[in-house]
Amino acid sequence: MVLSDKTIVLGVTGSIAAYKAADLASKLTQAGAKVEVIMTEAATEFVTPLTFRSITGRPVVTKMFELASEYSVEHVALAEAADIVVIAPATANTIAKLAAGIADDMLGCTVLATEAPVVIAPAMNVNMYQNKVTQENLDKLKARGFTFVGPGYGRLACGDMGLGRLVDVDEILGAVCQVLGRKGDLADKRVVVTAGGTQEPVDPVRCLTNRSSGKMGYALAEAARDRGAEVVLVTAPCALGKPYGVEVVDVATAEEMYGAVKKAVAKADVLVMAAAVADYRPVTVSKSKIKRQQAVSLSLELERTPDILGQVKGKFLRVGFAAESDNLVANARQKLKDKHLDLIVANDITTPGCGIGADANQVVIIDPSGKAEKLPLLPKKEVADRILDRVAKMLAKKR
Ligand code: CTP
Repeated sequence: MVLSDKTIVLGVTGSIAAYKAADLASKLTQAGAKVEVIMTEAATEFVTPLTFRSITGRPVVTKMFELASEYSVEHVALAEAADIVVIAPATANTIAKLAAGIADDMLGCTVLATEAPVVIAPAMNVNMYQNKVTQENLDKLKARGFTFVGPGYGRLACGDMGLGRLVDVDEILGAVCQVLGRKGDLADKRVVVTAGGTQEPVDPVRCLTNRSSGKMGYALAEAARDRGAEVVLVTAPCALGKPYGVEVVDVATAEEMYGAVKKAVAKADVLVMAAAVADYRPVTVSKSKIKRQQAVSLSLELERTPDILGQVKGKFLRVGFAAESDNLVANARQKLKDKHLDLIVANDITTPGCGIGADANQVVIIDPSGKAEKLPLLPKKEVADRILDRVAKMLAKKR
C-alpha cells in the first residue's frame, strides 16, 4: 500500500545485474507506483531503454541533453518529483561519482538535487567492493543518510565467489517500502508478530503440526514495517522468505514460541498473535525413531501447551486470531473476553478460498465492546493493513 501513487526514480547503472532491475520496475509498477527510469550510458549496453519503457509505460531518460525527453530541459525535474530514488544495480563507479557529488549525467544530477531518500543496491566484483576506496565511498554516503541494501554473497559474473551480488528484488522492494513508510502511523512503535504453525516433536523425524502457511503473520510484519514500526517476527517454520528490515526469531515448538514472545514483548507496544499454536504436544518425545515393526497400533499421550496469548500480559495492546469452523462471532467474542484482548480477528475456516494456506482471507474484527466489523474477501496484505488501521487508532487513543 505504501507504494501506491508514489513517484519512484529508478536509476539503473552498467552492471550485468541490470536485467534484474526490469523485474524491480515491474513489481513497483504493479504495486501502483509511477516509476521513472534513468539509465546510465553503460546500463543501455546491458538492457535496452525499451524494456523499461514497456514495463513502466513511462519514457526512459538516458541522456541529459536529449531534446525528445520531457525531463532534459528541466534537469532537476525528476529530483523534485521523486518520493524516493532507488539505484539498482549500483556499480562501484556510480557509487564513487555519487560520493564525490559528480553530476555529469542525469542520474548524478538527480541524486545531487533531490531531497528524497535514496536507496542503493550495489553490484560489483568482490575486490572492487572490498577495495578501501569503495568502502570509504559507501561510508560517506551512509553518513549522508543513504540506505544500502546488500550486496549479497554468492557467485559473481566474473566467476569469483564473494560479496558483490545484487540482492534479491524482494529485498530491494522491502527496503524501498521501509524507507517510504518510516514516518507512518506506527513510527517509533515496537510491534511483535507471531506466525506459522508450531511443530511439536514426536521423535527425531516426526512432529505434530497444522496447515498454517504463515502468510497472514508475515503480511502483518511487513505491513507494520511499512508504517514505520520496529518489528519482531517470532515465526514457526514456514516456506516464506524472511522479510527485509524485520527482526526474525525462529522457533519450532509452542514452548519455544512462548519463551521468545515473553522476551520480545519487553518494550513492545503491540503483540499480534497470528501463529497457529499447537494446543497439545506429546508427553514424551522418543529419542530414537519410532519403528513400524514396534507395534501394530500406537497411541500418543498429549498434554496442553502454554496458552501464550492467555498468559503474556503487559501494557502493550494484545491482538488475537480465532480460526473457527462454527459460531464464528460468538466463539471469537468468548476468546476476546477470556484472554482479555484489545482486538480479535476471526475467520471461518470452512469458507472456500480463504484462511489457512490461501493468499486471501475474509475476517471479522471484533473489539472489546463486542462490535464486529466484517471485511470482504481481501488479499492477506490488505487484511493486515485493515487490522493495523485499527491498531494505530487504538495506540493514538491510548496516548
Ligand atoms: N494461542 C496462543 N497459545 C496457544 C493457543 C492459541 O497464544 N497455545 C493464540 C493464537 O495465536 C490466537 C488465539 O490464541 O491468536 C486463539 O487461538 P485458537 O487456537 O483459536 O484458540 P484456543 O484458545 O486454542 O481455542 P480453540 O483451539 O479451542 O478454539
